[in-house]
Amino acid sequence: MKKIAVFTSGGDSPGMNACVRAVVRTAIFKGLEVYGIMRGYEGMIEGDIKRMHSHSVSNIIQRGGTVLKSARSMEFKTPEGRKKAYDNLMAHDIEGIVAIGGDGTFTGAKIFQAEFGIPTVGCPGTIDNDLYGTDYTIGFDTAVNTALEAIDKIRDTAAAHDRIFFIEVMGRDAGFIAVESGIGGGAEFVMVPETKTDLNMVVKSLKNLRKTKTSSIVVVAEGDEEGNAETIMQKVKDKIKDENKDFKVTTLGHIQRGGSPTARDRVLGSLCGMAAVEGLLAGKKNCMAGVMNHQVVYTPFEDCIGKEKPLNQEHLKLMEILSI
Ligand code: F6P
Repeated sequence: MKKIAVFTSGGDSPGMNACVRAVVRTAIFKGLEVYGIMRGYEGMIEGDIKRMHSHSVSNIIQRGGTVLKSARSMEFKTPEGRKKAYDNLMAHDIEGIVAIGGDGTFTGAKIFQAEFGIPTVGCPGTIDNDLYGTDYTIGFDTAVNTALEAIDKIRDTAAAHDRIFFIEVMGRDAGFIAVESGIGGGAEFVMVPETKTDLNMVVKSLKNLRKTKTSSIVVVAEGDEEGNAETIMQKVKDKIKDENKDFKVTTLGHIQRGGSPTARDRVLGSLCGMAAVEGLLAGKKNCMAGVMNHQVVYTPFEDCIGKEKPLNQEHLKLMEILSI
C-alpha cells in the first residue's frame, strides 16, 4: 500500500482534527502518500481530494470542527454516486481509506467496500458515543463537558428563582450525553431513548422533592420517546397543576458539537488515527479502530453499526440514588 486517503463525515465532533492529524502523520511516518478528501462522501463524488503533508495538519489538534469539513451525502446512497467516488479515488491511485465518523459513515463505507474492494478502516467520530466497539467515541467527552458547564450555569439561576428546568441535550438515538452530564450536573432526572420514561413517576417525585428542594434540573435527551424537552415540560406542567411552579426549557443544541477538544478526546482521536493507518498496513479492512479497556481493538463495521451499545446500568442506578 502506497497511497491512502482520509475523510470526516456525518456530524462533526471535537477531536476529529486530532484524528486527521494522526492519520496524516502516521501515514507519512510509515512512508505512505496521504490525501485528504473534503466534505466526506460529497468530496469523494466531486473529486475534491488533495495531497496532505505534515505541515497541512499543523496547529489543528486544539481546534473543534474538522479541517476536512463534513457533510451528510444523499448522492453517495446511489450506485451512480458511489461509482463517481470510486473513479475519483482511482484517479489518485488510492489503495486504502480512513473514514472518521459515526454509524452513517460506516454504513456507507461497508457498502462501498463491498462494491469496489478498497480496504477501509474507520475511526469513531461522533459526540453521541453510540458505537459498539469502543468505550468512548471521539468528541463525546468534550460534548459532555460542554453540556455540564451549561447545566452548572442553569442551576445557579434555577436555584435563585426556585424553578424546574428541562435541559435538552443531543442524542437522537442514544442517552450517553444525557446520563453523564446528568450525573455530573447533579440532575434530579434524566430522560433517555433507551429506557421508558414514566411521567407519572416524575411528577410524583417532583412533588415530593419540593419538600426538600426548591429547584430541580431534568436532563432530556432529544430522542426521548415522550418527546423533546419542550413537549415533556408541557406534559409535566399539565400533570402537576401548580400555578406557583415555574417551568423553563433550555435546548443546548449544536453548542455541544463545537469547541476545543478535551485532553481525552485529543488522545483518543490521535490513538484511533494512528491505529487506523497501522490497521490498513496490517491488512485490516471493513472495521473500526476503537479503544476498549485501554487497548486498541478493531471491530467489524457490521458490529459497530448493528450491535447495540447499552447504557451503563451503574450510571442509571447512580442517577436514581443521588437524586433523592
Ligand atoms: O450524530 C450526532 C448528532 O450531533 C446528534 O446527536 C444529533 O441528533 C444530530 O447529530 C444533529 O445533526 P445535524 O447537525 O445534521 O442537525
